[in-house]
Amino acid sequence: MKIKPKLFILVIICLLSSCKHKESGYHNLKEKIEEESKHYQDPGISSEVYIGDIETIEITEGEHTFLIPERKSQLKSYACTECHSKPLSELQQARDQQQAHWEIKIKHANSQTMNCATCHNPGDMNHLNSLAGIEIDFNQSYRLCAQCHSSQFEDWKGGAHGKNIGGWANPRAAMSCVNCHNPHEPQIASKWPVRFNTQKEMERK
Ligand code: HEC
Ligand code: HEC
Ligand code: HEC
Ligand code: HEC
Repeated sequence: MKIKPKLFILVIICLLSSCKHKESGYHNLKEKIEEESKHYQDPGISSEVYIGDIETIEITEGEHTFLIPERKSQLKSYACTECHSKPLSELQQARDQQQAHWEIKIKHANSQTMNCATCHNPGDMNHLNSLAGIEIDFNQSYRLCAQCHSSQFEDWKGGAHGKNIGGWANPRAAMSCVNCHNPHEPQIASKWPVRFNTQKEMERK
């Protein structure tokens, strides 16, 4: 019987490659990884060490549940109703020379799109105000931003925009929009790299 040369070569290749498998003792990469990581212990990393003293609240948005920093206790002029217990017009008349909130200037969308009342409700200052007039808690101000910045919001929920505290360790905790962006002036200021100071280096010698 005549052996076909093509078949013969194929048989040789098969024999050679199965020899290799026997040498390393594994049939495929997956098997090797599983076998060699058998004694690997879960280091038990938790995000809690990184969260430290930051007080957090748990939020659920769609299929994502995670922690964000509590915010109201960080706002120096909260509760707003300490002063905003009467209508704005009365407050405006009553105030002395110094304007309240003089340090707040809007550098965000233009003035046709946005003013204080886009986000704050003069009738209920203790809550933020959605475009449809629905109240939003100051702890969940990301909902306010999500109305106009839906793509960043989607990315943030999935962990692609912003920062997770303690990486991907559980429980998942993430910075909220206002932890990085000032809502009144959201652009993040440019930073310059620290330059190598040749003058100082010469003085040291
Ligand atoms: C210490 C008192 C005080 C506190 C606390 C305070 N406000 Fe005011 N706010 C005022 C006064 C007074 C005015 C009247 C307007 C002015 O001076 O221009 C005012 C005006 C405003 C206006 C209208 C500004 C404009 O130009 O139309 C907004 C919006 C506002 N406050 C939001 C808030 C929010 C939100 C809080 C809480 C996070 C808060 N305020 C807390 C005193 C206060
Ligand atoms: C784009 C939405 C938006 C607009 C427009 C806006 N605010 Fe705010 N404001 C917020 C959010 C969100 C917070 C909470 C910030 C935080 O958590 O740090 C806030 C916080 C504040 C506070 C409390 C700050 C503190 O640290 O105690 C005051 C006062 C205030 N706003 C006044 C105003 C005034 C006056 C205007 C108009 C000149 C205005 N805001 C316009 C969203 C907005
Ligand atoms: C009513 C709609 C609206 C809301 C609510 C809103 N934004 Fe904006 N935002 C805009 C518009 C419009 C621009 C300007 C876009 C541009 O210039 O391309 C903008 C710009 C920005 C920018 C880019 C600034 C820059 O110059 O690079 C950031 C960051 C931002 N917003 C963050 C926020 C955050 C955080 C919140 C919630 C506290 C928020 N926005 C709420 C409409 C909104
Ligand atoms: C950990 C900090 C951090 C958090 C949290 C964060 N951002 Fe940003 N964001 C940034 C940085 C950094 C940039 C890039 C700024 C630049 O390029 O100048 C940015 C850019 C943006 C821009 C400008 C357009 C773009 O994509 O470059 C928008 C709008 C914005 N963020 C909205 C949001 C909103 C809405 C949230 C919350 C849902 C949020 N950010 C949460 C840090 C953050």
